Amino acid sequence: MRLDAAFGVVTDLRIFLVGGLLPTILAIWRAPSLLFQPIEISRIFMSHVWDLYGNSVDEAGRDVKKGLITPHAYGVVLELGAGHGHTVNYLDHSRVAKYVAVEPNVHMHAELRRTASAAGYSEDAGTLLILPCGAENISSILSYLPTPHPPVDTLISVLTICSIPSPQSTISALVTEVLKPGGQMLFYEHVLSDRKDVVWWQRFWTPLWSIFSDGCHLDRPSHRWIEDVGGWVQGEGGTWGKEGESEEHLFWHRVGRFVKA
Ligand SMILES: C[S@@+](CC[C@H](N)C(=O)[O-])C[C@H]1O[C@@H](n2cnc3c(N)ncnc32)[C@H](O)[C@@H]1O
Ligand SMILES: *[C@@H]1O[C@H](CO)[C@@H](O)[C@H](O)[C@H]1NC(C)=O
Repeated sequence: MRLDAAFGVVTDLRIFLVGGLLPTILAIWRAPSLLFQPIEISRIFMSHVWDLYGNSVDEAGRDVKKGLITPHAYGVVLELGAGHGHTVNYLDHSRVAKYVAVEPNVHMHAELRRTASAAGYSEDAGTLLILPCGAENISSILSYLPTPHPPVDTLISVLTICSIPSPQSTISALVTEVLKPGGQMLFYEHVLSDRKDVVWWQRFWTPLWSIFSDGCHLDRPSHRWIEDVGGWVQGEGGTWGKEGESEEHLFWHRVGRFVKA
């Protein structure tokens, strides 16, 4: 393991702190009661970081998303952790009737709404729905969506499973209760490495990294959890990697598409 790869996270941490710290301190200055709401502070911090960082993360995943989302997403699309709505730009409007954005960080909703609207999806037209709950809150997600259930044709997760609580049971419940039979799950996630030395560093950094990234974990085998849900159509889709990515990267990505039987 090269040292620059092992310590690459330090650069990301620095960018996060430079982007997020000052506006977050100002927000606390204006509303000191925030000091008693650590989750709210973390979300304010993350929304400022994403203002600064979101576009370049999108850029870095552009080719993957063009190959994964544009040709495959159809019908009612539900995205977990929609952030500022970067994914909406990869949807083929002629095939995607409705974009449902699950995003618990309400400080991201204004930008999310703007991005969706620029891509032709709006609440007024009934083609956009922004849900302020977490991905793990299945009953709340279902309560916002019309019957019959399960309601969703395409379930998308882009760099979000790293941050959700109880990820294994959440993924399983989403696939069972939210995704229609015949529907598909598309994902692009940074995951636990296949290499022992990289895993050591991923586990080493995760406790510190998660504090400053609203709970993001570097050490989750999200791709395997999705595959392990089972009930997928055999021989369709699968899991693959990101072209040109070094195996030593602590943010090692897996991309996948699975179709529910
Ligand atoms: C790294 S960002 C990715 C955003 C977007 N998917 C994209 O590709 O631009 C992760 C997002 O997950 C959201 N998130 C955090 N906890 C979540 C949860 N429990 N359920 C759903 N989303 C969550 C964060 O607020 C953030 O917007
Ligand atoms: C689920 O979401 C609803 C509203 O979006 C919220 O009121 C409720 O507290 C959430 N429940 C859990 C367990 O997070």
